[in-house]
Amino acid sequence: MKYLFLNHKMNITVTELQEYKENLKNVNWKNLEVCIFPSFINISYLIKEKYKVGAQNVSSFESGSFTGEVSAKQLKSLKVSYCLVGHSERRYKFCEQETDIKEKIKELEKQNIIPVLCVGELQQEEKEEILKKQLSVIDQNPKELIIAYEPVYSIGTGVVLENEKIEETIDFIKEYVSKRYQKNFPVLYGGSVDENNIKQLKRIKNADGFLIGKASLTVEKIIKIVEEIR
Ligand code: PGA
Repeated sequence: MKYLFLNHKMNITVTELQEYKENLKNVNWKNLEVCIFPSFINISYLIKEKYKVGAQNVSSFESGSFTGEVSAKQLKSLKVSYCLVGHSERRYKFCEQETDIKEKIKELEKQNIIPVLCVGELQQEEKEEILKKQLSVIDQNPKELIIAYEPVYSIGTGVVLENEKIEETIDFIKEYVSKRYQKNFPVLYGGSVDENNIKQLKRIKNADGFLIGKASLTVEKIIKIVEEIR
């Protein structure tokens, strides 16, 4: 099963979504597990349109006086299937820590929403050490989980490593997780995936799919990507 996860980040208004949705009708998703991660404001519309939808964030708290937060229970009530956690933009722009991420995963698991744990190193960081630290948030007895490997310097920059380097890291993640937790989880690749480099990136042998940001905002680009990986 190939996963194709589309992360809109803080883009697309309610009005713009109408046209986006109309254009999406031209995509043939056959054989792919597709999930759109829109802004919170666009979640219910896409769910009504029968898309599988994920959230970009969730509160680490269960409920109560947390102005501006959205709980896992609330996401469940919208029928959200997946939720990103630990995205590098949350880690570095909103100072999210491993302790927060751990709590978020717990909240999601209680509601049977599958967490998509994003991990990845900064260019100057010791890769294996940082990945181990980021993967340590996984529960000792994990339920379902998806991991997205996104080198931080590849996100939104157009910088993409050679396939062999990405394969090496995905192997490391898979081996580490399976040894530590006795379970295997899908690992996606993300970071500047677009309609031009997908021909190369689809050859990454051990990636179970892609997490796509910028290119997911343009349906023509999605169509080209889907045609390559389907
Ligand atoms: P990008 O974003 O495709 O724009 O690099 C990927 C992501 O942040 O998940």
